[in-house]
Amino acid sequence: MSDFHYSNGQLCVENLPLSRIAEAVGTPVYVYSAAALRHNYQIFAGACAHMDALIAYSVKANSNLAVLSLLASLGAGADVVSGGELERAMRAGIAPHKIVFSGVGKSRDEMRKALSAGIYQFNIESAPELVALNDVACAQNTVAAIALRINPDVSAGGHEKISTGKAENKFGVNLDQARDVYKQAHDLPGIEVTGVDMHIGSQIDNLAPFETALLKGLDLVLDLRRDGHDIRTFDMGGGLGIVYNQDEDTLPTVADYMDMVRRHTKGLDLKMIFEPGRAIAGNAGVLLSRVQYVKHGSARNFLILDAAMNDLLRPALYGAYHAIKPVAEPKDHQRETYDIVGPVCETGDTFANHRRLSVMKDGDLVAMLAAGAYGAVQAGQYNTRPLVPEVLVRGGKFDVIRKRPALEDILSLENVPTWL
Ligand code: LLP
Repeated sequence: MSDFHYSNGQLCVENLPLSRIAEAVGTPVYVYSAAALRHNYQIFAGACAHMDALIAYSVKANSNLAVLSLLASLGAGADVVSGGELERAMRAGIAPHKIVFSGVGKSRDEMRKALSAGIYQFNIESAPELVALNDVACAQNTVAAIALRINPDVSAGGHEKISTGKAENKFGVNLDQARDVYKQAHDLPGIEVTGVDMHIGSQIDNLAPFETALLKGLDLVLDLRRDGHDIRTFDMGGGLGIVYNQDEDTLPTVADYMDMVRRHTKGLDLKMIFEPGRAIAGNAGVLLSRVQYVKHGSARNFLILDAAMNDLLRPALYGAYHAIKPVAEPKDHQRETYDIVGPVCETGDTFANHRRLSVMKDGDLVAMLAAGAYGAVQAGQYNTRPLVPEVLVRGGKFDVIRKRPALEDILSLENVPTWL
């Protein structure tokens, strides 16, 4: 049974009706299932049990301290892309030796922090970044372990805004330049070359691009070893997709993915690093929202929700699909077609067009599914709408793991100069 299911006429998370959370915390609110997070992590851990592997959960997908603490308790490492994420991961109890630091634009300050913390590996994306890290490491009298993120020039499908593995993307070093940059790295006293890294995109729905990129990466590993580098780690990045639309999406399983990786890396004596984000957090959360008004326009019926694009940006930004379910289980077969929108003053503030739902009325609750990854973390306060709170459910109980800021919290950061 899914951790989000109907029971006694109510959509529940684990054993808790979502309506109870709406009453206690108000809407909109993100709701996560601890069981689902645990389950998703364990699928990954189980699938690479007999591999020398590090699962470095990609913090950007959902960086709430409670979510990170839960994953830390299961043994997860972390993939971080900022000093802020590094701080979160460490506060959540993720051991520094399980943390990798990715991203094209790490600042020297962030490098300093990560070096002092003793993280496992920097994933370096350019020659100038390498030089900067060398400077910082030398100044701290230490040596930074690095993998170079290669850009394997593989088209991974998915949305153009989240595809990263093509030569024209800003990420990584193209394969034809990689060996030169490795040579440069080898000659720098503050750098120790330990691995190869890649990340080709997100919400990838088949194994072919991963396999193509992996094979290119492994060819490079062999070349680099011939060049005299001691390559011990291979970071596959993240990218495995999840089901957003039950009727249309077919996805490879984590086990299939790991089998493919195992097949190609067998005997190569590489520690494999995986950076799953969406595959861990995505289907573990929903955005719960209340219908403010049902508006019967002359061309369309609109469900105007109290959630908006600032709370869940994915549909507006990527045209992403999220299944939307009424919290009250439909009792009959009567359906109505709705455009489901938020209150923000932009037409882009639309969650879905032409959705068939049971007949809704003002005040009804709806849940947007698979919103656990890239939901709350991408929320903003546009239209001075306070950041949406987050709740973690365990069994029949829940905790608020980020509260809704008061309007005063937002306004108090601003300052009106005395000359006004
Ligand atoms: N590693 C690196 C270096 C990444 O850049 C990312 C995601 C991941 C791992 C995790 O990828 P995942 O397993 O979650 O696919 N906001 C977009 C997704 C952006 C992904 C950015 N990088 C969305 O809502 O679809």
